Amino acid sequence: MKVYILTLFPEVFGPILQSSILKRAKEAGLLQVKTVNIRDFAIDKHGTVDDYPYGGGPGMVLKPEPVYEALAWVRRDSGTKPYVALMTPQGRKFATQVARDLAKRDPLVLVAGHYEGFDERIRSFSDDEISIGDFVLTGGEIAAMAVLDATSRFLPGVLGDATSAESDSFSDGLLEGPQYTRPQEFLGMEVPLVLRQGDMAAIVRWRRKESLRRTLERRKDLLRDAVLTYEQRRLLAEVLEEDRVDGKDLW
Ligand code: ADE
Repeated sequence: MKVYILTLFPEVFGPILQSSILKRAKEAGLLQVKTVNIRDFAIDKHGTVDDYPYGGGPGMVLKPEPVYEALAWVRRDSGTKPYVALMTPQGRKFATQVARDLAKRDPLVLVAGHYEGFDERIRSFSDDEISIGDFVLTGGEIAAMAVLDATSRFLPGVLGDATSAESDSFSDGLLEGPQYTRPQEFLGMEVPLVLRQGDMAAIVRWRRKESLRRTLERRKDLLRDAVLTYEQRRLLAEVLEEDRVDGKDLW
């Protein structure tokens, strides 16, 4: 998959792209990332990319022409029409399903704005707008990194185990349950017996149940939206009973 990141600060992407899983994905040829400096497409010799807002007000607004020209360059470079997503707090909220969808877009362009916002006309040459949460960042770079990182996990072969993106938190709409590694006992806290006994069926059942317990405790909203299997509903009933939680408001 090829991802272009349009930004005024291409240098901030270096460390992320040169570490860990994204680095390995690039080296394996599964992911190609090109940062494109919007300033290189400024239409005046001063490299102007922002200007005052019409009608007055604080801050500066990203001009449409440099973004348009940068996108025209991406079309030439990739030889095709890419899928263009703007990073903005006004976008649709980023979540696992969005990452899964974006992983199928190739080439993908993430536009990281700065200043107070985008000139509205930039929206007319984009396909999507994404927010990583209900807060305002000083720029779209961190949002673009989060989107790139979470999306890459859904590219076939990027995670060592092909199924692990699908067994993490949110993959079935629920939170992941507790995980343990050695030592068996730490500060008096024991690893649950079932995980140490090697009965795989019992372990799978325990994990499904603890995932439901954790989601019930922390994110009832997810549990309400999740489509549960018959087995999960039975396990949830056990959790409600054990934890003496009234499940009336769940369904
Ligand atoms: N740019 C500034 N804030 C943002 C947010 N919350 N999501 C995506 N892009 C942003």
